[in-house]
Amino acid sequence: MTDTLTIRRPDDWHLHFRDGDVMRAVVPYTARQFARAIVMPNLTPPITTTEMARDYRERILAAVPEGHDFMPLMTCYLTDTTNVDDLARGAGEGVFTAAKLYPANATTNSASGVSDVELIYPVLERMEAEGIVLCVHGEVTDHDIDVFDREAEFIERHLRAIIANFPKLKVVFEHITTLDAVEFVKASGPNVAATITPQHLHINRNAMLVGGIQPHNYCLPVAKRETHRLALRAAATSGSPKFFLGTDSAPHFRHDKESACGCAGIFGAPVALESYLTVFDEEGAIEQFEGFASLYGPAFYGLPVNEDSVTLERAESPVPDELALAGSTIVPWHGGQTLGWRFRG
Ligand code: NCD
Ligand code: ZN
Repeated sequence: MTDTLTIRRPDDWHLHFRDGDVMRAVVPYTARQFARAIVMPNLTPPITTTEMARDYRERILAAVPEGHDFMPLMTCYLTDTTNVDDLARGAGEGVFTAAKLYPANATTNSASGVSDVELIYPVLERMEAEGIVLCVHGEVTDHDIDVFDREAEFIERHLRAIIANFPKLKVVFEHITTLDAVEFVKASGPNVAATITPQHLHINRNAMLVGGIQPHNYCLPVAKRETHRLALRAAATSGSPKFFLGTDSAPHFRHDKESACGCAGIFGAPVALESYLTVFDEEGAIEQFEGFASLYGPAFYGLPVNEDSVTLERAESPVPDELALAGSTIVPWHGGQTLGWRFRG
């Protein structure tokens, strides 16, 4: 039995840092485990220009604890009125690594998102030409579509058309939650990939709704039924370079999640690698972990892999019920549980 695992240092290809005190409190958790992270732009106001992204990157870098060599990779929040010249300039200057498509009102801070995907076709055309990666929150928002069907419906209504119209555009289908998404990504060309979160590998929708409503297991897209979770586990551990790590770590204060209208998002950063490795271990696929965590993401984004390494060891690893952060508390993913792997550094 493998008792320690040393792999190239991983990157997190999807996460939320927020801003201000919360950002300063959560950046160290990610910088401890990862070398780089794709930072989501859904702040208030959203990060829509090169100048805003440059400033936000500076604020994040100022929060990285000494001794960690961490680089945030910035994304541009697409709107109905995105300035495509500014986006291309920001990408050319190395400020933007990707642009993010949020359908308007699909999730936290997405009110300024895109109201009709076809409105941004000129932007997608330019992104395809310039090789700028498109990160997609793939859920429709139509009120007549059941929340559990919103991802599958997005594929049919929008994603197929985007890929048909822009066949060379690099697309990351973010935080996929369904068998439909797994099959779609597998059947698409090498320019289409997906990130998978730890929570969608661990829980199905019962974890949200059985035995009382469980707000700390609520995120978007919502966890689906067990068949989908099993398809995600198979995809993540398959060794296919189309599936790679993206935690979607999304901190919200405990009181904001435990409320009559609880926020969507799970704070996975403190135990990200331990959580993922537990899944790979359970699936008998530890040898596939380095590809998923450290190799396939950089290959897709056209970036070098990291030179240094991290080690995890098989050891009881209790996760605190809550963390005191930014003058309040946040419940971490796996809070109150004991994991079987520990991050050594
Ligand atoms: C994210 C957040 O809180 O910003 N929430 C979530 O449930 N995943 C937004 C997102 O990625 O959908
Ligand atoms: Zn997210």
